[in-house]
Amino acid sequence: MSRSGRDPGTRLRTAKKRTASSARWLTRQLNDPYVQKARAEGWRSRAAFKMIELDEKFALLKGARRVVDLGIAPGGWSQVVRQRAPLAKVVGIDLLPTDPIEGVTIFQMDFMADEAPEALTGALDGPPDLVISDMAANTVGHKQTDHLRTMGLVETAVDFAITHLAPGGAFVAKVFAGGTDTTLLNLLKRNFTTVKHAKPPASRKDSSEWYVIAQGFKGKPAEPA
Ligand SMILES: C[S@@+](CC[C@H](N)C(=O)[O-])C[C@H]1O[C@@H](n2cnc3c(N)ncnc32)[C@H](O)[C@@H]1O
Repeated sequence: MSRSGRDPGTRLRTAKKRTASSARWLTRQLNDPYVQKARAEGWRSRAAFKMIELDEKFALLKGARRVVDLGIAPGGWSQVVRQRAPLAKVVGIDLLPTDPIEGVTIFQMDFMADEAPEALTGALDGPPDLVISDMAANTVGHKQTDHLRTMGLVETAVDFAITHLAPGGAFVAKVFAGGTDTTLLNLLKRNFTTVKHAKPPASRKDSSEWYVIAQGFKGKPAEPA
């Protein structure tokens, strides 16, 4: 306790060589109850709680048999998937390495690469019933550029989902600035029975991240004869 009577929380004593923003990030991590809870419960990331909360609200994992996890590293979401749907086959992809998770096939690869869709679908024994994307582009600090890069990832994830999902399947993706842009939203609405946005409690209030949850995939339109 400080003399003012307030708990000052964990402070960084070694911040001298750190940039102000990375010191702020580290201080926030050290004082974040979700980070501490994740460590105590064996989740690899605090993001695991977002998937738990989204599943509690939307029953995404009930009966899930084949799941694609886009932006899997370090693996919190896939851990939750395996715990809540132990029979589900899971395949994940990330630019970064991910330590192995039992029952999960992991590719260290750019999801935007031409060969990514085939690698992902080839690892499953049938069409996925759930595609989840927590991908976010590395920010460069220029708001418009960051927004466009992340929207590019979301668009490619939507395209992957509507090309490969099994009828009745679901799609979840991280989006920014309160929602999904109109064109993308309309595309989702045409292809899914329900489309909703949610900000799970574990998502930091000061972050502009939201999630779009599309359920009840209507199936691929018939090919013209
Ligand atoms: C917020 S983290 C995911 C956390 C994860 N859901 C968890 O629970 O541990 C976002 C991830 O997206 C990945 N990512 C960003 N762009 C990507 C791309 N083009 N291809 C594959 N992964 C990408 C990043 O490397 C990062 O690991």
